[in-house]
Amino acid sequence: MDNYKILYEDDGHKYIMFSFDDETHENSFLSVNQYLIVKHGVGFLIDPGSEAIFDELYDAVSEHVAIENIKYIFFSHQDPDVAGSIGQWSVSTSAKFIMSSLWVRFMSHYGFTQMDRVMVLSDKGAQMKFGEDYIKFVPAHFLHSPGNFSLYDTKSKILFSGDIGAAIVTAPYNYKTVENFEEHKVHLLEFHQRYMGSNKVCRAWVSEIRRIKPQMIVPQHGFIFEDENVELFLDWLEELDCGSDLIENLYSA
Ligand SMILES: [Fe+2]
Ligand SMILES: [Fe+2]
Repeated sequence: MDNYKILYEDDGHKYIMFSFDDETHENSFLSVNQYLIVKHGVGFLIDPGSEAIFDELYDAVSEHVAIENIKYIFFSHQDPDVAGSIGQWSVSTSAKFIMSSLWVRFMSHYGFTQMDRVMVLSDKGAQMKFGEDYIKFVPAHFLHSPGNFSLYDTKSKILFSGDIGAAIVTAPYNYKTVENFEEHKVHLLEFHQRYMGSNKVCRAWVSEIRRIKPQMIVPQHGFIFEDENVELFLDWLEELDCGSDLIENLYSA
């Protein structure tokens, strides 16, 4: 089986998915997806993950773009399965690192010290030119991290949602697309109930994403949403009670 999946390819623009086991995760069955956009030979790497997968991802990525041509590396939030390898990527590339202003000061704990290479995102997000198209950094705060962003590629119309839409699924899991949302919901429920902030923040994100109208939503764990499953997922998330809505379950009298 290939160690990648092409999600979009057109006009010198490619969106590639990688999916590896992250051995630092407590649950070894939790898949970790990484993504790479290549536009006219320039690379944009998304949530590269932990130290444990650095070597494997480096090799896989270098089949699609010259490592020295990776110009941007995005971190949706601060977690180790997202940003643990930032130190290694900083010495092996000359890329800029894009992240929430909340997490910059924490990155030295992953062995990253080159703060002048960070492009800081303020809470309301940003849009940057990438070739002749745009990358949008969409606020996704408290879903689950307090400083958290989704990433929308205007060319492919693919939304990278980070931990939003993450499914806890057992192998074989790699590179799959949701086939039946009703059946898939059971793999989403516990993760979202516990890790996501509240229904209020789910609604804020869903209304932003409905404005954007992505054709595909790709999470950091689990399966891809496309076609009618994009809307079914947004409908589900919009109605979900989670996080502080369920606080009484976590504190017993
Ligand atoms: Fe996370
Ligand atoms: Fe994650």
